[in-house]
Amino acid sequence: MEKRKLLIVDDEQTLCGLLGRYLSTLGYKVSQAFCGEQAKEVLQSQPIDLVISDIEMQGISGVELLKWMQESNYKIPVLINTGHPTLDTAIEALKCGAADYFTKPFHLEEVAEKVSRAFTKKRLEEENYALSRLASLHDVTKILASTDNASELIKSFLEFSLSMVKADSGAVFLSDGKSRFTVSKTAGVFSKYEFWRVKSFTSLCSWVQFNNRAIITGSEHTEQVPGVDKIPDGLRSVMALPLCAKDKFLGVLMLARKIGHDPLSNLDLQIINALSMQTSIFIENVKLYENLRNNYLSTVRAFAQAVEAKDKYTHGHSENVMKYTVALGKHMDISGQELEHIKYAGLLHDIGKIGISEAILNKPGKLTDEEYDQIKRHPELGSRIISNIPFLSQLVVLVQHHHEFYNGKGYPFGLAGDEIPLGSRLLSVSDTYEAMTSDRPYRKAMPQEKAFKILREERGAQFDPVVVDAFLEVMKAGV
Ligand SMILES: [Fe+2]
Repeated sequence: MEKRKLLIVDDEQTLCGLLGRYLSTLGYKVSQAFCGEQAKEVLQSQPIDLVISDIEMQGISGVELLKWMQESNYKIPVLINTGHPTLDTAIEALKCGAADYFTKPFHLEEVAEKVSRAFTKKRLEEENYALSRLASLHDVTKILASTDNASELIKSFLEFSLSMVKADSGAVFLSDGKSRFTVSKTAGVFSKYEFWRVKSFTSLCSWVQFNNRAIITGSEHTEQVPGVDKIPDGLRSVMALPLCAKDKFLGVLMLARKIGHDPLSNLDLQIINALSMQTSIFIENVKLYENLRNNYLSTVRAFAQAVEAKDKYTHGHSENVMKYTVALGKHMDISGQELEHIKYAGLLHDIGKIGISEAILNKPGKLTDEEYDQIKRHPELGSRIISNIPFLSQLVVLVQHHHEFYNGKGYPFGLAGDEIPLGSRLLSVSDTYEAMTSDRPYRKAMPQEKAFKILREERGAQFDPVVVDAFLEVMKAGV
């Protein structure tokens, strides 16, 4: 284990030397300063784990040194001693954050005991803090596990990481699978541009990828990285961790603390590492799911286009119905899988027209009763087509009932009110509105206000009144 580093500050040089030699024999590495100014220089130039300081010195007093350390964010224990003890000086020293206080003359063993106790107290405080963060890690992981959007997941992960180690800035760099990186998200004081522009960040990404391990750099407490540019001025330390799911390298998480703050510690690294390992798997899963979803959407789109290729007058109809239905669903607080199903049903609601003769579909004039009966078969035909495709099976009922009327006078089954699936009731309004406001071979598109009037007139008759009201609100707000 690395030796603990002590700084003894005392203008009595003999005493300073005596105490220093004794503490060295106990395994500490000791530096000495003979005034407050010299002590500041030592603290600014090298890592120190504990300070023992006299109070009465020429220039800066021990208490002033203590106050300066507090203002500069040094979080190391300070033991104060004095040859002229008064209760007031003891109280003032402790108020300024001294870990302990002792008087001259002292026994060397007594000082050694106080040093040891101060280190034990600091270690316990750090362990308590780590435990509190580990406890919150569980809650954070639960929140991240429930996110199904890769971009949001990365953003939340970065924000949680930043707050868990009190970093001032951070970024997630994503790998393109080779050796190029893009800045996916940033948080804190640095912008995306700054993370990208500073060469040390990108060279650190490459180092982490090549060595496949985490590192803290830039502070005097930690290792310097060969081949990596110096970290920007103003930063005290930077932590970089690989994000890996199974054996796949996804990218790098980078967190930074500014000068004036403690450097990032190995304990910080362990906590973020635990969070990163878990989150990397979530990120990979969400990306796979997004890919699957995109493939699914492409397939559904291809189906919808196949229908529209037959019915040349309804080009773009399904895409518009999908757009209206999704906006309407969101407005009615529908989300998650239910919204996804409604969305795809919007695209596929008329898939059954694939089984209807093109002559009927493209007939410019009025349809005969027989022809209309043929058209009316399309919801059932559509539901039969998609019931054979496992990943579309959830949409069967939505498609089957998109021409039902709220008053029971629709087709194919004459369902009424809540018997009609909610998604079908939404589709019905969007579908009718889209048809009314688009050009057809036998008529021009209806003005929006006229279509709204018809929807209002059909509230409770053809359409669910609640859905009509929501639709009108959505349209007035602008889709
Ligand atoms: Fe239809």
